[in-house]
Amino acid sequence: MAWTITTLDQRPDLAHEVDRLHELTWPRFVFQGHTPDESGRLWFPLLDQFAQFQIVVLDESGTLIAAGHTIPFVWDGTVPGLPRGWAGALLHGFDTLRCGIRPTTLSALSMAVLPAYRGQGLATTVLLEMKTLAVRHGLDCLLAPVRPSMKDRYPLTPIERYVAWTRPDGLPFDPWIRSHWKLGARPLAVAYRSMVLVGSVCEWEAWTDLKFPDTGDYVIPGALVPVRIDRETGQGVYDEPNFWMRHSPAGA
Ligand SMILES: CC(C)(COP(=O)(O)OP(=O)(O)OC[C@H]1O[C@@H](n2cnc3c(N)ncnc32)[C@H](O)[C@@H]1OP(=O)(O)O)[C@@H](O)C(=O)NCCC(=O)NCCS
Repeated sequence: MAWTITTLDQRPDLAHEVDRLHELTWPRFVFQGHTPDESGRLWFPLLDQFAQFQIVVLDESGTLIAAGHTIPFVWDGTVPGLPRGWAGALLHGFDTLRCGIRPTTLSALSMAVLPAYRGQGLATTVLLEMKTLAVRHGLDCLLAPVRPSMKDRYPLTPIERYVAWTRPDGLPFDPWIRSHWKLGARPLAVAYRSMVLVGSVCEWEAWTDLKFPDTGDYVIPGALVPVRIDRETGQGVYDEPNFWMRHSPAGA
């Protein structure tokens, strides 16, 4: 299949389609939940101010079928120096830009492939393109706060145990962790509080089509961990952990 891979600085007209692609891909709470910090407001600025780091894939007819997002920042190469997962990477990247510091590292942020195009190696191709981007921009390596793609089927399993699961062939159990692994990425650490989303109980009920009559933890579709509902404060909090992995430099 002939795919065209480019970046948003070459096709700024695609920014709204990219947004639509993510709306079709993610559960509503991911798209509409409120972040307790500024990270949630950085999505559109990311597409604009870091357009050269946003990968888009088109099919033969010019339809957008996949997108992969990255941001460069300064990393000291240590685990304690890692940002706080997805949100931390976004905030760190914008800080690096604001301060005019030369970034050292590229971080993946997210990837979305239209359902009809999944299972054909497209995400792997985009991951490779992310590694190429890092090299092209003189960055040391590609990091990723990986959101394990099958963890939502095991929301009660602690993340530390889930990411350690392997298949009989010794490869990681989770397909998305495995994709990174196959391209040379190796684990660094669990990224706690990678994506924290808050909302009123009414909002959580609307986002999930469920009712939350009591205070407590609830398993909801598409979530890697349960959401914590507090009827007294009227708030629900979702605190998603991810998994930092580091790719070896392209060509290494
Ligand atoms: C995760 C995602 C990006 C993978 O895209 P893709 O183009 O289908 O991935 P690939 O074809 O390169 O396959 C990658 C691996 O995932 C596996 N895979 C693909 N679709 C799968 C599915 N529905 N269920 C289980 N495994 C699946 C593939 O078998 C492959 O693993 P293997 O080669 O070791 O067997 C895509 O499913 C997606 O957009 N999901 C929703 C958003 C998301 O979870 N993004 C990742 C976190 S940011």
